Amino acid sequence: MENIMNGSEFVILEKGVTIMDIIDQKIKEQMLRENTDAFSVADLGDLVHQHLRWQKALPRVKPFYAVKCNNSKPVAQILAQMGLGFDCASKNEIATILDIGVPAERIIYANPCKEVSHIKYAVSRGVQMMTFDNKDELLKVAMIYPTAKMVVRIAVNDFTSHSPLSEKFGASLSECRLLMEYAKALNLDIIGVSFHVGSGCTDPKIFAQAIADAHVVFDIGIHLGFQMYLLDIGGGFPGIAEDKVTFEEVAAEINPALDIYFPDKTEVQIIAEPGRYYVTSSFTLVVNIIARKIIENSHASSNDEEAGNEKTMMYYLNDGVYGSFNNFAKYRELLKPTFYEKHSLDQKLYNTRIWGPTCDAWDHISDTWKLPELEIGDWLLFRNNGAYTISTSTMFNGFHAVPTHYAISEDAWETLQNIKKEIQFPVEEQDGVDPQHLVIRQ
Ligand SMILES: Cc1ncc(COP(=O)(O)O)c(C=O)c1O
Repeated sequence: MENIMNGSEFVILEKGVTIMDIIDQKIKEQMLRENTDAFSVADLGDLVHQHLRWQKALPRVKPFYAVKCNNSKPVAQILAQMGLGFDCASKNEIATILDIGVPAERIIYANPCKEVSHIKYAVSRGVQMMTFDNKDELLKVAMIYPTAKMVVRIAVNDFTSHSPLSEKFGASLSECRLLMEYAKALNLDIIGVSFHVGSGCTDPKIFAQAIADAHVVFDIGIHLGFQMYLLDIGGGFPGIAEDKVTFEEVAAEINPALDIYFPDKTEVQIIAEPGRYYVTSSFTLVVNIIARKIIENSHASSNDEEAGNEKTMMYYLNDGVYGSFNNFAKYRELLKPTFYEKHSLDQKLYNTRIWGPTCDAWDHISDTWKLPELEIGDWLLFRNNGAYTISTSTMFNGFHAVPTHYAISEDAWETLQNIKKEIQFPVEEQDGVDPQHLVIRQ
């Protein structure tokens, strides 16, 4: 775990300096160069805060952060320093995490349908834990990686989640016995069970039911002679106040279910694969209105004028659905923009359509917000923008993922050092980061 912050640039904020100050400073710097490019600002201290919250609410569950959710290096580095494990879904994700110094035992290769060359890479780097949900995958792994530690992924009832996953992944309970018998015949080792309640889970009871189902599969495994010692309760945890349920409400369903089905004395190791929970609130996206079109409603009555219906405002932003808004549709109502300056929702509000910068009509961000009249050159802020944004951005039409500026408050930096001491993280003054040089003063 040496050199864990190497190669990452971030600033430590002196007391009293906020993320909004950083945004302000970056906008001003850019404007001096007449540059209106979109960017984002990440509050790394927010990751520390979320981790403390996790430890308090789910003390028995060790988080293995889902890299897919936000694969930026500083995020991974801070989480690694707090002792988290990682859920990787591909060769490149495994490489990213190993290359920052995380040991292979702290990685689960949690993709039930893997490419052969990626499994070979996992073998070469010593990543042993991996999930499966079908016979062909077992055969593949038996041929390439007979010493792998296999985790059976079960399907759950996740239809109330924003992004259900069980249509694509997960074996039914009735399939599990056959799969596990097949693994036995192939001489593969099964060590546990995983599930995922779907990203953006809105019903915490699904976790409790899934834990009960996992217990049934554990019993089958034990009956077949496997040493079952890992329960992986997946991702799907809410991370922001605007979510329909809070993280603590979810934890209040999970803890009693764990105590019933996997009591402490069984010594089963319990892990989870949170993505969204850790990173959503840490990123703020800052975009600029690059074009505008006003559509007049020629039949507007005075009532329409009062309601702001006499015209529809169309704004074109310099980031869109092929960039940070890729995963936005299901969360739109939670993620309304705020204004950088001069505008407020107290002004007269109009029907507003917001588009991204590409030439594709799918690059359409929202039709549902009523906003005041904005102008070309105005800046908009989208908070809670850390999950499935930079990691899902594409290069369509020649656009790129927006650059991110990273910052952490002095307090959070200190808390991080204390957490590192508690988990006995190897001392790494040698990591090349000298906070003194990075302090921003007010
Ligand atoms: C296997 C797996 N684990 C974890 C996650 C992270 O889910 P979330 O960001 O909802 O916590 C995902 C998301 O798709 C996933 O597919």
